[in-house]
Amino acid sequence: MSEDPTVANREFDEEVLYGGLRDGTPVRLRTVRPGDRAGVLAFVRRLSIDSLELRFFSAVSLESAADEVLGSRPTGPERVSLVAETAGASSPEIIGHAEFVRSPVDEERAEAAFLIADAFQGRGAGTLLLRALARVARRRGIRRLEAVVLGENQCMLDMFTGAGYPHSTRWLGSEAHVEIDIDREPPIDARWGPNLTGAAST
Ligand SMILES: CC(C)(COP(=O)(O)OP(=O)(O)OC[C@H]1O[C@@H](n2cnc3c(N)ncnc32)[C@H](O)[C@@H]1OP(=O)(O)O)[C@@H](O)C(=O)NCCC(=O)NCCS
Repeated sequence: MSEDPTVANREFDEEVLYGGLRDGTPVRLRTVRPGDRAGVLAFVRRLSIDSLELRFFSAVSLESAADEVLGSRPTGPERVSLVAETAGASSPEIIGHAEFVRSPVDEERAEAAFLIADAFQGRGAGTLLLRALARVARRRGIRRLEAVVLGENQCMLDMFTGAGYPHSTRWLGSEAHVEIDIDREPPIDARWGPNLTGAAST
C-alpha cells in the first residue's frame, strides 16, 4: 500500500453493492478500504486452517493472510479487492473476501480468488462475491476471470458451476484452472437464491 494516503485516495475507486445470502441475510459488498486492517484481522482469525490452506495453497500466518486480503496496492484499474460484510448490524462483520488482478499480458483477463468465513460457507456468500466481482470487472473491460483451485476443493468448483456463468476447466496435475466467461450476467437460479439486490458506486 502507498505510504502517502493522498496517493492511495486518488487511486481509490470505491464500489458498494448489496445482496442477500441464500437464507435472506443481508450483505454489503464493498471495496477494501485502507482502514480495514482490524476488521480483516478479525476475519482471518476466525478462519480454519483448512480454509486458509485452500485459499493460499500452503500454511500462512494470520498476519500474512491479512496482508494478502488488504493487498500491497490500493484498489484501482488493475486490481479490485472486495469484502462482504453483514449489513444491517450496528457493527458490521467481514464475512468474505474476493479480488481480481488483471493479467499483465491480456487486459480482458484477470485472476480471481475467494475466501469466505467458515460459518458462512455454503450459504451463498461466495456466489454473491463472484457476481459482484464480475459486475465490477465487466465495467473495467474484463471479460474472463480465471481461478486456480486445488482439485480437492469441490465446494469452489460447485460454486462456479452453480453461479451459472459459462466456464471451462483445465487440469494441471492436482490443480484445476477454471476460466469463467463473465461477458453476460447469467439468469439467476431463483430456487437457490443468493443475488445482488442493487448497486451504487460512490
Ligand atoms: C470455496 C468458497 C469460496 C465458496 O464460497 P461459499 O460461500 O461457500 O460458496 P456458495 O455458498 O456461494 O456456493 C457453494 C455451495 O453452494 C452450492 N450451490 C451453488 N450454486 C448452487 C445452485 N444453483 N443450486 C444449488 N446449490 C448451489 C454448491 O453446490 C456448494 O455447496 P457445497 O458447499 O455443499 O458443496 C468458500 O467455501 C471458501 O472460502 N472456502 C475456503 C477458501 C477457498 O477454498 N478459496 C478458494 C480458492 S480461490
